[in-house]
Amino acid sequence: MSDTWIVLGATSTIAGAFARKLAERGDGLILAGRRMDALDAMATDLTERGASRAEPVSFDARDPGSFAAVLDAAQAAGGTLNVAVFVGSMPEQSAIDADPALVDGVIADSFTGPTRFLTLALPVLEAQGKGTVVGVGSVAGDRGRLGNYVYGAAKAGFATYLSGLRNRLGRAGVHVLTVKPGPVDTAMTRGMEGLPFMAQPEAVADDILRAVAKGTNVLYTKRIWLPIMMVIRAIPERVFKKMEI
Ligand SMILES: NC(=O)c1ccc[n+]([C@@H]2O[C@H](COP(=O)([O-])OP(=O)(O)OC[C@H]3O[C@@H](n4cnc5c(N)ncnc54)[C@H](OP(=O)(O)O)[C@@H]3O)[C@@H](O)[C@H]2O)c1
Repeated sequence: MSDTWIVLGATSTIAGAFARKLAERGDGLILAGRRMDALDAMATDLTERGASRAEPVSFDARDPGSFAAVLDAAQAAGGTLNVAVFVGSMPEQSAIDADPALVDGVIADSFTGPTRFLTLALPVLEAQGKGTVVGVGSVAGDRGRLGNYVYGAAKAGFATYLSGLRNRLGRAGVHVLTVKPGPVDTAMTRGMEGLPFMAQPEAVADDILRAVAKGTNVLYTKRIWLPIMMVIRAIPERVFKKMEI
């Protein structure tokens, strides 16, 4: 029986590229997201591309009441369960400063929502003793920067959670991959000028699938971000606090 992938935040640009590649190899997909019209269209396209199943399910990271139906749909589909988390949001830091209530949404979308969902799925993953969890963080989570430190804090929290989840699920035979992209050409970065080493979503999806196959723990994509972030993390705080990067 083919694998089943829950894709949280399936309408994300990167998730779309990832889902198309899974469909082309015949995997089943549970497309979890907020925009049902877009998910319906996606399901049709993925079925035509070869998905053994492509099922839209309503999911809102800020509404834990929506989580169980996603897991139920995946279990009903059968096959080895895998989870890929693409959900996230990145309002401008200035917008957050103007409306502190936005903090809660940013943390829910990138950290507490996905973490709570994975906590719900944990017993199923542990019991099946195989499968993969892909969690998309960000290089922004590696160090708090002037321009987006609330988003960065949410991604840092999620990365720490994934590290612990890897420690736990690795013992049961389930692989946990943390993905740390630099800037990617998607809806999230539209209109932002001068972002360095911009990656294309298709290339990021290829990198993720290669890392899943190899059993990589932490993937920086593009790869140049691994040495860059090693340097950025090594800068002493007394110097870093004066930098504008
Ligand atoms: N693009 C980059 O430069 C970059 C860099 C590093 C990391 N990332 C991360 O990569 C992941 C994918 O992002 P992307 O670049 O593909 O951007 P995107 O196209 O804007 O995707 C964001 C996704 O998150 C979903 N989402 C946001 N809040 C949600 C909520 N409360 N409940 C359910 N879904 C919600 C969006 O759904 P709707 O369609 O309903 O809005 C959309 O599917 C994100 O976690 C992002 O933080 C992106």
